[in-house]
Amino acid sequence: MKPMKQINIIDSKDYVDQEVEIGGWLTDKRSSGKIAFLQLRDGTGFFQGVVLKNQVGEELFEEIKRLRQESSLKIVGTIHKDDRSHFGYEIEISSLEVLGTSEDYPITPKEHGVDFLLDHRHLWLRSKKPYAIMKIRNEVIRATYEFFNKEGFIKIDAPILTSSAPEGTTELFKTKYFDREAYLSQSGQLYEEAAAMAYDKVFSFGPAFRAEKSKTRRHLIEFWMIEPEMAFMHQEESLEVQERYIAFLVQSVLDNCQYELKLLDRDPKILEKYTKLPYPRVSYDKAIEMLQESGEFPDTKWGDDFGSPEETFLAEQFDKPVFVLNYPKAIKPFYMKPHPTRDDVYLCADLLAPEGYGEIIGGSERETDYDKLLQVIRDKGMNEPDYEWYLDLRKYGTVPHSGFGLGLERAITWITGEDHIREAIPFPRLLNRLKP
Ligand code: 4AD
Repeated sequence: MKPMKQINIIDSKDYVDQEVEIGGWLTDKRSSGKIAFLQLRDGTGFFQGVVLKNQVGEELFEEIKRLRQESSLKIVGTIHKDDRSHFGYEIEISSLEVLGTSEDYPITPKEHGVDFLLDHRHLWLRSKKPYAIMKIRNEVIRATYEFFNKEGFIKIDAPILTSSAPEGTTELFKTKYFDREAYLSQSGQLYEEAAAMAYDKVFSFGPAFRAEKSKTRRHLIEFWMIEPEMAFMHQEESLEVQERYIAFLVQSVLDNCQYELKLLDRDPKILEKYTKLPYPRVSYDKAIEMLQESGEFPDTKWGDDFGSPEETFLAEQFDKPVFVLNYPKAIKPFYMKPHPTRDDVYLCADLLAPEGYGEIIGGSERETDYDKLLQVIRDKGMNEPDYEWYLDLRKYGTVPHSGFGLGLERAITWITGEDHIREAIPFPRLLNRLKP
């Protein structure tokens, strides 16, 4: 006899009317006298199994009725089309083996509070919503590699243990490095600048750590950042790379994650708008005027950084992500290049996502002049010896270069339409949460 074909739920469409074997878990069930409906998942999808008593026999039918949520199962059955379900297919079960029982699974189909779900994150990951978000996260990661590969970038990994603080010293995680002190990386940028001088167009993709004591919907303590850096590139061209990249990510999710978007009730029509380029650009000066003229932000003055209400208001004035250009020097980091005709702003931009998701990208052209950079490092009271190597990049064949950083979880929160950034990462690190 031919061995039974083992398949995943996601491949059901290729096995209609065929008998197959599937390994999975039970998420829910209901039964009446002669028929039982099992809600099943296998990590690749969710669908329904139908069990008819007269087909499987009295004994197995009674065993199936006693099955509890999250029992692990090996199922044999025939795939059928099922136009009434989200997924479109179901399995008519002919036999079933219980691999592992599950008593009193803590996450039930009823509503649970946020803290309860975070305490049980290791189990919550099995549910439909996190399933859909993690699949979309994976697609964004896959598309990131495809995009940068296609555009001629190479990936250069930046170290996690560092001695420098590119984004300022207030949010550093300090750790012991034998008899010295080290920091967990806030950003790989400075290393990517060195790599760009070696390999032209590069990017890093790694964890970033910010000891921010803020409890907002947009902040994680540990998040993942994609940081491209391009030699011989000015800020305007970097903005074009940024918008192409974001549109590519959104298009990839639309192409490959329709089922997941449906599970999340995220309307693809909204996302389609974000694939159309170019994205609007507005100067920081103009943004301040818009805030002042709105009447909603009476105290806003030139020089202020934007909080989340300001970013939300600005993004609402456009129907696509918007670049805010040329922020005041005082509110941005040391490495940026000043505007050529204005002494008070940098050649930099933040990309604000629509629908209230705030800044997803921060980027700039970098200072290329040795003396000017050294002066800023001194003026800011930074520890000069830590930056000698970084200054070397301006000493040996300096060239114009630009780069940016995309916060992976910010982008995913926006693309999936979730309320809180904690949903965009499997095991979020938050102010009071280090477990599980
Ligand atoms: O604007 P940031 O701090 O820029 C940098 O780190 C630069 N070195 C990037 C570069 O030019 N290479 O951070 C970049 C992005 C933000 O736009 C945001 O999306 C994300 O990283 N981000 C956070 N995401 C989650 N939680 C936090 N606490 C974040 N802080 C920044």
